[in-house]
Amino acid sequence: MAESRRPRLALTRLFPPDVMARARRSYSIVAENPEDIPADAARLVAMAEGAEAILCAAGDPFGAETINSLPGSVRAIATFSVGTDHIALDAARARGIVVTNTPDVLTEATAELTLLLLLGAARRASEGERLVRGGGWKGWAPTQLLGTQVTGKRLGILGMGRIGRALARMARGLLMEIHYHNRTRLPPELEAGAIWHSEAASMLPLIDMLALTAPGGPGLAKWLNAERIALLKPGAIVVNSGRGSLVDDDALIAALRTGHVAAAGLDVYANEPELDPRYLDCANTFLLPHLGSATVETRNAMGFRALDNLDALFAGREPSDRVI
Ligand code: DGY
Repeated sequence: MAESRRPRLALTRLFPPDVMARARRSYSIVAENPEDIPADAARLVAMAEGAEAILCAAGDPFGAETINSLPGSVRAIATFSVGTDHIALDAARARGIVVTNTPDVLTEATAELTLLLLLGAARRASEGERLVRGGGWKGWAPTQLLGTQVTGKRLGILGMGRIGRALARMARGLLMEIHYHNRTRLPPELEAGAIWHSEAASMLPLIDMLALTAPGGPGLAKWLNAERIALLKPGAIVVNSGRGSLVDDDALIAALRTGHVAAAGLDVYANEPELDPRYLDCANTFLLPHLGSATVETRNAMGFRALDNLDALFAGREPSDRVI
C-alpha cells in the first residue's frame, strides 16, 4: 500500500517479530507498546489517538469506559485472541466499532496444552520437578509421588467446541472414553463417538477427569461450583484451559485441600495475573501462566489472522472473523 493510504494502527503489545514486521509494512503505526504486558485503560486510550484500528490482545482492559473514551477515528479493534471477554462488546457495538478475533488457529496448541495440564496434574509433574530442582530427590522409590494413570480413563469435557474436540481427538490416543456436556448435541461427525450429556449432573459422577475448555462468559460464571464438584468421583482430576471465570475458586481450593479433587491443572485464572494465592499453597496443583496458544507457530498465525481481518476491513471487504 502507498504510504499515504496506509491505515493508521495502534499496537497495544509487543507482538511476535513476524507479526510486527507485517503490521509495519502494511500500516502506519501510530503507537506501540514496547512491553509484552497489558497497558492500563488510560494508556490504551492515549495509544489510540489518531488510530483507525487497534491490534490488542487478551487481557487488555477494553471495558465499556475505555471503549467510550476511544477517539472517534477508531473503526476496528482486532484482538490477537479467540476470547473476547476483555472487550465490552456492547459498548463497541453501540459505537459502531468492528471487533474481530482469531478463531481456529489456536485450536491445536490449546488442546495440546490442555492435555499437558491433564498429564501434569495427574502425574504430579510440579511436585516431581520441585523435588529434583530442590535437591531433595534421594532416588527411585516404589511409593514416591504416585499419581493417577490417564490412559483408559473417562474424560468429561465442558465446551465441546473446536478446542474441546481437538482435545477429545488427542485423548482418544490415550484410549480415553470421552463424555461431554454442551447445550446441544453435536452432529455425529463432530461428536466422533463422544457421549453427550444434556445435563452436567449426569456426566460428572461418571468421569475420572474433567477438562474445562469453554470460553467463559456470563452464563458459565463459576460453573464449577461446590455442588458440581461434589458430584465428581473422589480423586477426580480437574483442568482448566478455558477461562478462570468458569471456576468457583473457593470451592475448588476446598476440594483440593480435602483431596476430593486429587489434582488440578490450571492455565487460566480469575483476575489474571493475580491468581488466588491459595492455589500456590496446594501441592496438588499444576499451574501454568496462560500458555494455551503460546507456540511460535500459533502466535504468528494469530497475528496474521488478526491482520487479515483488518486488511479485509480496510479493503472494503467483510472480515472473516467479525465478532460484531
Ligand atoms: C485466547 O485466544 O483467547 C487465549 O486465551 C489466548 O491464548
